[in-house]
Amino acid sequence: MTENLDLFSAEPQGQKPSAAINAGVPESVMSKAAALRGQLHQWAHEYYVLDAPTVPDGEYDRVYQQLEALEGAYPALVTPDSPTQRVVGAVLDGLTPVRHAVPMLSIQTETDNEATGAIAFDQRVRKELGLDESAAAIEYVAEPKFDGLAMNLRYENGRLVQATTRGDGEVGEDVTHNIRTIRQIPLSLSAGRDVPPVVEVRGEVHMAKADLDRLNARQQAAGAKTFANPRNAAAGSVRQLDSSIAAQRPLSFFAYGLGEITPPQQGGPDFGTHYAMLQTLKSWGFPVAPQVSIARGASELVAFHERIGAERANLPYEIDGVVYKVNSLALQRQLGFKSREPRWAVAHKYPAQEMPTLMEAIDVQVGRTGKLTPVARLAPVQVGGVVVTNATLSNLFDIRKKGVRVGDQVIVRRAGDVIPEVVGRVPGERPAYVPNFRMPKSCPICGSEVVREKGEANHRCTGGLFCGAQRKEAILHFAHRRAMDIEGLGDKLVDQLVDAQVVRVLPDLYRLGLSSLAALDRMAEKSAQNVLAALEKSKSTTLQRFLFGLGIRNVGESTARDLAKHFGKLDAIMDASVEELLQVKDVGPVVADSIHTFFAQPHNREVVEQLRACGVHWDEGEPAEKAPQILAGMTVVLTGTLPTLGRDAAKDMLEAAGAKVSGSVSKKTSYVVAGAEAGSKLAKAEELGVPVLDEAGMLALLRGEQPG
Ligand code: IVH
Repeated sequence: MTENLDLFSAEPQGQKPSAAINAGVPESVMSKAAALRGQLHQWAHEYYVLDAPTVPDGEYDRVYQQLEALEGAYPALVTPDSPTQRVVGAVLDGLTPVRHAVPMLSIQTETDNEATGAIAFDQRVRKELGLDESAAAIEYVAEPKFDGLAMNLRYENGRLVQATTRGDGEVGEDVTHNIRTIRQIPLSLSAGRDVPPVVEVRGEVHMAKADLDRLNARQQAAGAKTFANPRNAAAGSVRQLDSSIAAQRPLSFFAYGLGEITPPQQGGPDFGTHYAMLQTLKSWGFPVAPQVSIARGASELVAFHERIGAERANLPYEIDGVVYKVNSLALQRQLGFKSREPRWAVAHKYPAQEMPTLMEAIDVQVGRTGKLTPVARLAPVQVGGVVVTNATLSNLFDIRKKGVRVGDQVIVRRAGDVIPEVVGRVPGERPAYVPNFRMPKSCPICGSEVVREKGEANHRCTGGLFCGAQRKEAILHFAHRRAMDIEGLGDKLVDQLVDAQVVRVLPDLYRLGLSSLAALDRMAEKSAQNVLAALEKSKSTTLQRFLFGLGIRNVGESTARDLAKHFGKLDAIMDASVEELLQVKDVGPVVADSIHTFFAQPHNREVVEQLRACGVHWDEGEPAEKAPQILAGMTVVLTGTLPTLGRDAAKDMLEAAGAKVSGSVSKKTSYVVAGAEAGSKLAKAEELGVPVLDEAGMLALLRGEQPG
């Protein structure tokens, strides 16, 4: 949808703009305009509030333009609640103070942040009402406590006339010009649904997490200031003097209460419960949070606190707690107020997710993949219910962006189970001279060179096989079925071997003896023998598998194959210049650089030499040009179990001869090689008339014979 959208609010029926009547606009034009407005209101409500559009954007735009054209021809037709009037471009000198007709109170906060804190509130309410143990459970409405800005929206005869901030609760500021730009807030209330002459709807203006992220990205790109949280973003937007700025801020709204309303004696609605009131607000077109629930008694309040707490990190908007309200309005009146806070409501917060603390140092950790992560060492602080002493700082750019330095007071954030992070710095004094953080030039674990690839934010250790931090990962990768294929060398065994310091570098694998293996926990002699046999078997391999197994960054299976094919011999690859590497099919500057840097590390060359010395070998071939590509241009599909060759071996052989091995059969498939229990692919081949070979046929094809 375009920017020109409006929100729900059907034209109050039969109501014609008096200006239009006076200006003699033809009756038919007035009805037409009213119908267009009603339609646009309906569609916008579906789009913005219900999140369920029923027409394509283009259709909305077409009708919007029709209305704009009518209003252009008859300016007297324009009503303040017309969808065309969301952004009128008002620029104010200052915000006008407005006294609230009904004060905007705050709510008492339950200090116990545990879920059981809800029990105390229920007990207080029961005591105030003079209920004993035997009395029935009290019914509450439980709502999220939105982290935004409280707003009072005044509607007279169904039309939005004024929007006011909470201010000090007695006097707020008029921000109507900005609030009109929020598409979730109706400019006029849904017709025919008992809209009273005067009603003030209260709720929270906020900004969804994803919208805040996008806004911040935009602000940053424009060199403008970013917002630390949705509340600041909402407040900063709503208090703008120029409504065209607010119009560009993706604000949202949730309704949760009422201010002044025409009393029932004067024809206003008579709600029995808070919940019924919320349902009515919804029917008038206001967004009400889908989490709002009825809760009976303390136990259901506790359950709500727990449930929303668990969902909190995944909710699309920020909350800092939940709010419980006695549902019956009669009971609310009976309970009344205590020092400007209602006795019938309480805010029950979650442990704070953000806390300030001192950043004492920045260390660098090396992950299993070689990524260097700066870690902030913090003065211990309670965040989200646990003591935090470390927090991640993603990478060097993250530190620069946040502008944090050792010795700063920083904000630490911990949301749900995620790793705590440093969000930013608390503005204020900082020690006289602290140098900016720099990434080390060599790996803190193994001393290998640290590099950052072009266009990458992360620094990495080039130690690979040699680096202790990457050891387990490197060994598992080396042993992988598609690399050296060492059966039985899985996670658990690698953990044990590395933790017991039996294996430090890859060649140590081939130095394992029966006694050192059998000495490991839960390792029977038979399995130890199996592992040794698998290791022995793996020594006879291919250059492609060996190269892939080395775990060179950016060198996957297919690059390993292309390298092996292109150079034929390992030494040629190890000594290749970047320019020479760039000659290889599909190898670009990033990959070439990775390979070159890897073999420039003496440790890595040493590992390769030792592996060869341990007996790892392969048939070295001729450089690509000379290898006969007898299956070049052919596409082969493998299916079922071949009698002797494994699937991977068959694939290697076909590819070595220049064939492309594909996973699905089409008319373009040259051959399907089918083994036992071949299923749908075989059927498909037969259906399309693609020739089908067995293993023997495939081998014949590879020898350049006519397959039987
Ligand atoms: S009810 C008399 N419900 O929290 C009760 N307030 O001090 C009036 N808030 O600034 C408030 N979510 O803006 C209520 N579901 C909710 C709320 C909520 C957030 C804010 C409100 C006010 C503060 C309460």
